[in-house]
Amino acid sequence: MENEVKKPLEKETKEDTPNEVSIEKDKDKHTDVTTTETGMPRRKFLRFLGLGSFFATLGAAILGSFRFAFPRVLFEPSPVFKAGFPEEYPVNTTSAKWIKENVWIVREEKGFYALSTACTHLGCATRWIKSENKFKCFCHGSGFYKDGVNFEGPAPRALERLKITLDDDGQILIDRSVKFLYEEGEWDKPDAFLKV
Ligand code: FES
Repeated sequence: MENEVKKPLEKETKEDTPNEVSIEKDKDKHTDVTTTETGMPRRKFLRFLGLGSFFATLGAAILGSFRFAFPRVLFEPSPVFKAGFPEEYPVNTTSAKWIKENVWIVREEKGFYALSTACTHLGCATRWIKSENKFKCFCHGSGFYKDGVNFEGPAPRALERLKITLDDDGQILIDRSVKFLYEEGEWDKPDAFLKV
């Protein structure tokens, strides 16, 4: 009796085993032939992806080392410039020749002084109004006499004078990095006025 009962069970086991193997094989087969959305086989795609990542990392490392060799430096224009020869400026005139350098050059009988064009209120560029013999800032209405002293509007102080000297070749040399403030009594300093 026992044998009769066991037989069908054994049979079932033997029949099951090949089916499972075939399922596994099918799974393997299925894995091998899986493709990506681009139609590329998955393994090939993964290999491609790995190589791509490797070269991207390598490229970034090489670029990084180049950046160390050439660090980012901000090259600002020199604050010093030559403004030509004294004879180029008629006596008792205000020259806008160097306005691109943000400098007014005023020629008097005894010599020269250079003024920053920046309004001392909020830094707008001033304009020379010849008919009124004054500098005017149209942002908020400040006005400055020809010597740079403020007299109207919200500007709290006079225009700044800049270092002015004669270079070895006889040209006027302006250094915008050196400023002289009227309120500090600095306009009497030697480089605030160029005697000729
Ligand atoms: S910036 Fe010149 S008056 Fe305000």
